[in-house]
Amino acid sequence: MKPDEHRIYGKNVAIRGEAVKRFWTRQAATATGTAGTLLGNHGGEDLTAMKNALDRKLFRECTEGKKQRILEFGCGNGRWAELLADVVESYAGIDFAEEFIAKARALFQGDGRFRFAVGILTDLPMEFIRGGGRYTMGICSGCVMYLNDGEARKFYESVEALPVEALFFKEKVSTMEQRLTLVDFPSKELQTDYNVVYRMPSEYEEFYRSALPGFRIARKGWEYPEEKGIWAETNTYYWHLVRA
Ligand SMILES: C[S@@+](CC[C@H](N)C(=O)[O-])C[C@H]1O[C@@H](n2cnc3c(N)ncnc32)[C@H](O)[C@@H]1O
Repeated sequence: MKPDEHRIYGKNVAIRGEAVKRFWTRQAATATGTAGTLLGNHGGEDLTAMKNALDRKLFRECTEGKKQRILEFGCGNGRWAELLADVVESYAGIDFAEEFIAKARALFQGDGRFRFAVGILTDLPMEFIRGGGRYTMGICSGCVMYLNDGEARKFYESVEALPVEALFFKEKVSTMEQRLTLVDFPSKELQTDYNVVYRMPSEYEEFYRSALPGFRIARKGWEYPEEKGIWAETNTYYWHLVRA
C-alpha cells in the first residue's frame, strides 16, 4: 500500500476488524491504569487528567449528578466506572479484550455494584445485560469508530431494543466535511498499524435517526476544544440521547 492508501478521505472504505481486535488485545496487555484506553496522549499526564475531568463533568451535567444504573459498551479496564463510582448505583461493562475485563474485575473486586463481561458490540451478551434489570444510562465512548458502517448500524439497532432509558455517546470524529478512514495506518505514536473510521458527527446522527428511533438528542457538542490545535483533522464529539 502507498502511504495515501492508508489514509482515505471521503470514500467509505472498510477497516480490518481483526487488526482492530489485535490492537486492543495488545493495548489491554500493556495498560497499567484505566486511562490506558485513552490514545493520543503522547504520554502526557496533563492531557489524561484533563480528559478525565471533562468526561466526568460533562456526564454529571447531562445526568444532573443523579445516581445511575449504567451499562457500558466497550468499557476497557474501567475508566468510566472509576470516574463515575460515586454516582453508580449499579454498573455493567462489556469489552471484547479479555485482559481489560480481567483488569477491571480486579480493580472493582469486592464492590458488588460492578459487573464486567467479555462481549462484542455486534453480538451483545444478552444474558449478562438482562442480569442488570433496567438501566438509566448506556455509555459508549470511543468504540463505534472501530466498527464498519454495517456493524455500527447493527450495534445501534440492538441498543434500541435494550431496557435503557438514556444514552451517552462520544466518538472521535472528523472536523472536516468528509470522513477520514485509517486502514492499516503505520502509526509511529502507537507503534502499530491502526484502523479507525473518523466519521462526521452528521453521519452518527443519521445512524441515530434510523437505528435508534426511540431516542431523541437532548444535548450534543464538541467535548475537548483544546484538542483542535493538536490534531487538526479530528476531535471528540458527544451526544446525550433520551427516550423520545
Ligand atoms: C478508545 S477505547 C475506549 C474505552 C472506554 N470506553 C473509555 O472511554 O475509556 C475503545 C474500547 O473499545 C473496545 N472495543 C473496540 N471494538 C470493540 C468491539 N467490537 N466489541 C467490544 N469492544 C470493543 C476496545 O477493547 C477498547 O476498550
